[in-house]
Amino acid sequence: MKMDVLLGLQWGDEGKGKVVDVLAPQYEIVARFQGGPNAGHTLEFDGIKHVLHQIPSGIFRSQILNIIGNGVVLDPIVMKKEIDGLAKFKIDYKKNLVISKKATIIIPSHKLLDAAYEQSKGDKKIGSTLKGIGPTYQDKIGRSALRVGDMLSPDFKDKYNALVEKHKTILSFYDHPLDALAEMEEQFFAAIEFFKTLNLVDSEYLVNDAFSEKKRILAEGAQGSLLDVDFGSYPFVTSSTTMTAGACTGLGVSPSKIGEVFGIFKAYCTRVGSGPFPTELFDQTGEDMRKEGNEFGSTTGRPRRCGWLDLPALKYSIMINGVTQLFMMKADVLNIFEEIKVCTHYELPSGEKIDRLSFEISEVDAKPVYKTLKGWNCSLENIDSYEKFPSELKNYVSYLESELNVPIKLVSVGPDRKQTILR
Ligand code: GDP
Ligand code: IMO
Ligand code: MG
Repeated sequence: MKMDVLLGLQWGDEGKGKVVDVLAPQYEIVARFQGGPNAGHTLEFDGIKHVLHQIPSGIFRSQILNIIGNGVVLDPIVMKKEIDGLAKFKIDYKKNLVISKKATIIIPSHKLLDAAYEQSKGDKKIGSTLKGIGPTYQDKIGRSALRVGDMLSPDFKDKYNALVEKHKTILSFYDHPLDALAEMEEQFFAAIEFFKTLNLVDSEYLVNDAFSEKKRILAEGAQGSLLDVDFGSYPFVTSSTTMTAGACTGLGVSPSKIGEVFGIFKAYCTRVGSGPFPTELFDQTGEDMRKEGNEFGSTTGRPRRCGWLDLPALKYSIMINGVTQLFMMKADVLNIFEEIKVCTHYELPSGEKIDRLSFEISEVDAKPVYKTLKGWNCSLENIDSYEKFPSELKNYVSYLESELNVPIKLVSVGPDRKQTILR
């Protein structure tokens, strides 16, 4: 058996939560492998809209085991809130949710550090979600972080105090106030007591045993490939490996066990936070896209920056991930446009046209070169099969396939589970 991986190919918020929920019945296990509460994955079904941050998007399917892998950074306060928020759905989370003891814990001072680092950057700030992600991964790589399994140790408090003292020294260097810390710590320790009652496991054994038992596993990515710490638009990235390889390190799975790689992208582009975005629209078209797509962050509520689809960026993401199937999301958002543009190249100040994301690309003023396609300019409301798509939408899909050399197997035409067209 192999593990399939689903991940975002752009700057996050492509609709991963929706598609994981749609595909989940084909699997026995859904597993998160990186990121943390910076993610906001939205699911809509039966008139319910729910946003998940740390819990995998298979949680609403009672037969699915949801795993939070070692590569994830977890905020116990957020976990308590998330599980409380699921109470009305009567989910048996002690049975359906397991958490790796090797996952890293976000402690309150990580969030203060996130704020202090951002403030110190001034207008070069990353636009972090301020959930403590960067400082926590820093401590993980720096070999001083606390892990979920540490919660069960009698000297957890001592380990915690040692880490907080280190953080306080850094925070005093930044002159960052500590007033909020005491209340955050109170919530944190209450949440830790709750967290210890959850199903904490050595998830790498669980996942690998599942292969022997012929169970099907879907790995759910968070963020997107253009936010990957190595290949994204550094330093305007998140602090984890968001690409396929991250599913191996974040779950303890051999690369030889990777099956299909589902790459998901919006029919256009959005980005929340700072950093280069060559096709960003600052005009009414961008405004219309934001309104039509309801492009406001699921975690922070910030307006998302909007622009046309960027093929060089998409090709790059497909390459580094080994994408085998593409899923195109939010096609319905483009219903309002008579013409649709797609960026095929970037033009450098020298006049040279390139279609690769070189190291220097973010340093220069690269202008997008567009191909214009005719829009379908009609509602997709009652469309339930690919055959019924307007011809212009079919053209858009086949044009992208011809450019990307990977089949588009799913087109999403609305936020609900049901508004999903498989090919
Ligand atoms: P994720 O982080 O990749 O899971 O994506 P988010 O949940 O942050 O953002 C995607 C947003 O688009 C959510 O509000 C979804 O409900 C919504 N959405 C997903 N697919 C579609 C679609 O095909 N059409 C429309 N209009 N909205 C969609
Ligand atoms: P999902 O899983 C969109 C962005 C932030 C910021 C940068 C670094 O919902 O697609 P961080 O808090 O990680 O230090 O922020 O990354 N970012 C996301 N943007 N979707 C996400 O997750 C994101 N997670 C982080 O806006 O620009
Ligand atoms: Mg999101």
